[in-house]
Amino acid sequence: MKGAEQRVSEEAQAADIAIIGAGIAGPAPGHDSDRLQESEPWIERWQEGRTGWHEATGNANLKTYWNVSGKRVLVPLCGKTQDLVWLEQQGNKVTGVELSEIAVEAFFAENKIEYTLVAGPLTAYKAKGRSITIYCGDYFEFREGPFDAHYDRGALIALPAALRRSYAEHTGSLLVSNATQLIVSLEYDESIATGPPFSVTADEILAYWPDLQRIAAHDDIANGPPKFRAAGLQEMIEVVWRSP
Ligand SMILES: C[S@@+](CC[C@H](N)C(=O)[O-])C[C@H]1O[C@@H](n2cnc3c(N)ncnc32)[C@H](O)[C@@H]1O
Repeated sequence: MKGAEQRVSEEAQAADIAIIGAGIAGPAPGHDSDRLQESEPWIERWQEGRTGWHEATGNANLKTYWNVSGKRVLVPLCGKTQDLVWLEQQGNKVTGVELSEIAVEAFFAENKIEYTLVAGPLTAYKAKGRSITIYCGDYFEFREGPFDAHYDRGALIALPAALRRSYAEHTGSLLVSNATQLIVSLEYDESIATGPPFSVTADEILAYWPDLQRIAAHDDIANGPPKFRAAGLQEMIEVVWRSP
């Protein structure tokens, strides 16, 4: 991330681009050591091209179950998902947050979208003439908002149990009180295989967001990580949760 920071700083000086402030003050949630330990493997996955979770045409559940437009949509841990483009096409203003600079730059390059860099606590990549911005850095340090919708596919389940409550609380702090939510989660037998992606029980989801409704569930082991099938896992349920 050092190289990116240096480049942004140089570009900011050269192009006189805006430097945004720190936004909402306060310490980042979760333990710093936990978060650092969890971040490094993701950076390495992107460096090594191990991104088996990425869906070339986006997530089918999103297209089936997302039913709002005109929202400011927060997409935490967004990778380079095509879901950002689809959400924008539905008339939403889309904000992703992603740790890996490789992922963010790949998103813009693969979609042939030009962007402007805005330096800040997390560097913002703002699509020119479009309604997509991706902030590059640690989601737990992200302080923009508020947002009135939240889409999560591959974010909550990417985090170990120790960080999931922090994720839920931090996300809550960025959303308005009646925000629309669509969360795609996973349920499987963690005594056979372990994540990421992690299994998250219904009780845990409802402890974070009591109003969410479990609107769909189907076995997705065919698209599960090869390590899961190798371990003998035969069922991995993809579950869709949505606000009423
Ligand atoms: C399983 S992938 C899912 C990506 C995306 N949501 C999708 O559906 O393709 C999880 C992503 O979260 C990113 N990530 C992990 N920890 C993060 C953090 N603390 N802040 C921001 N992004 C993070 C990883 O780099 C990775 O791209």
